[in-house]
Amino acid sequence: GRRTAIVAAMQEELQAVLDLMPDETRQVAAGREFFVGHLHGREVVVVLSRIGKVAAATTAAVLIERFAVDEIVFTGVAGGLGPDVEVGHVVVADAFLQHDIDASPLFPRYEVPLYGTSTFAADKPLSDRLAQAAAKALPGVRVHRGLVVSGDRFVATSSESRALQAALPEALAVDMEGAAIAQVCHDCGVPFAAVRTVSDRADDAAHLDFATFLRDVASRHSAAIVQALLG
Ligand code: ADE
Repeated sequence: GRRTAIVAAMQEELQAVLDLMPDETRQVAAGREFFVGHLHGREVVVVLSRIGKVAAATTAAVLIERFAVDEIVFTGVAGGLGPDVEVGHVVVADAFLQHDIDASPLFPRYEVPLYGTSTFAADKPLSDRLAQAAAKALPGVRVHRGLVVSGDRFVATSSESRALQAALPEALAVDMEGAAIAQVCHDCGVPFAAVRTVSDRADDAAHLDFATFLRDVASRHSAAIVQALLG
């Protein structure tokens, strides 16, 4: 069968998923614990990437090269950027961009050098399944689809948030991993999709909202969506 990787950056976002696995074996690679087993009878590899683009890219490369996964699904929280993307809403990415990449004037701002593009698309069929799973798992919760931007920054001031919104008006949400995994999956030809629950508005209150949300909601939402996806 198909082997699906389930990735999150932080323990809180994945513990409830790990709790659902009946038979996992733990394997260490690149200093990370990979839990290989089943969820609803499907083969899965569950791993915490840790935070940031490098950590995420390393995790994706090991999942593909060593664990031979056929698709990667990222779950976790993100900061809301789009004007109507509120705390508690869900964002399923259509495409990803690294908001902190800037090789200008050699290459246009945001372009990933030598790729000729600044965005990497999510896998459409997998993202459709993920959006359906989110809607089913969290009835009444608004599910957005669109651009997610990633960078090695926790965006925690209203001024930085406004600057990002002005520079990248299409961006719905900001995280610290998605676009890095999307680039690795593009290189390796592996389908990738990401779902993020909005934990904060990436503004002056972001650090407080983030902590509360992570503790109270993130794990439950991630587990419910992953269960609906594989169930
Ligand atoms: N993940 C959750 N909230 C975030 C924020 N404000 N900035 C970057 N990544 C996030």
